[in-house]
Amino acid sequence: MGSNPTLSAISAEAVSSPRSRGPLRKEGCEKDVSLKFDPARRDRLRHPRRSRRLPPFKILRRLGLRRGDTFVDIGCGPGFFSLPASRIVGEGGKVVAVDVSTEMLTDLKAGAAAEGASNIVFKQVGENGAGLPANAGLYFLCQVLHELEDKRGYLAGLRRRMGPESRLAVLDYHRRRTKHGPPLFQRVSLSRLRGWLQEFGFRVVDVFDVNAEEYAVVSRIAGKGGKASEGA
Ligand SMILES: C[S@@+](CC[C@H](N)C(=O)[O-])C[C@H]1O[C@@H](n2cnc3c(N)ncnc32)[C@H](O)[C@@H]1O
Repeated sequence: MGSNPTLSAISAEAVSSPRSRGPLRKEGCEKDVSLKFDPARRDRLRHPRRSRRLPPFKILRRLGLRRGDTFVDIGCGPGFFSLPASRIVGEGGKVVAVDVSTEMLTDLKAGAAAEGASNIVFKQVGENGAGLPANAGLYFLCQVLHELEDKRGYLAGLRRRMGPESRLAVLDYHRRRTKHGPPLFQRVSLSRLRGWLQEFGFRVVDVFDVNAEEYAVVSRIAGKGGKASEGA
């Protein structure tokens, strides 16, 4: 892959018509609208078509994940990224798989046992991320930002947990009409996300499209005298 590539022909259709859970009152809407992916539909998250659109090994390597790293998969679901990450980081590394959903974590535990992946630890967290580990190598949110109830608060909290060597990768849908993905009101545009990251003391180091519908943004803590923003 080049320095700022588009990973073509991949996109996550997993939430193509999300019947999700968890209440949120959409502005101007009478009904509560749910934000969370329904765990009963978790097979969609590991459908082979999804691997073609979101190839996990390719994406994780593009994000810089390496042997020996600690990878925090926030909103891990059934482990579409946690299991490949476990192989990449190897025995000397660690995957911390966190989710609000017991069902997702139970499913991933079974998958990890079946694969003999002994370097994954499982953690059920609350909505605001309390209990996430500090100073990990790579924090990863794939198709999770759009589900968070307090997106800004979550990013600000993550920033406080990150150390100078930590990176944060956010992968989510562009805020425009696409064939797949959550309703527009849940989505965060790339420019808004970059603004928030800058506001909370992150330095964007890489931005790329993973497919025609989704972006990825990698950032670090902005150091003293560091540039406010790099990458595309
Ligand atoms: C669309 S699924 C994506 C799962 C996984 N990241 C993937 O790409 O296969 C979103 C996941 O985020 C989880 N989630 C939503 N809000 C969360 C939060 N505040 N903290 C942790 N997990 C959360 C959901 O339970 C669900 O498993």
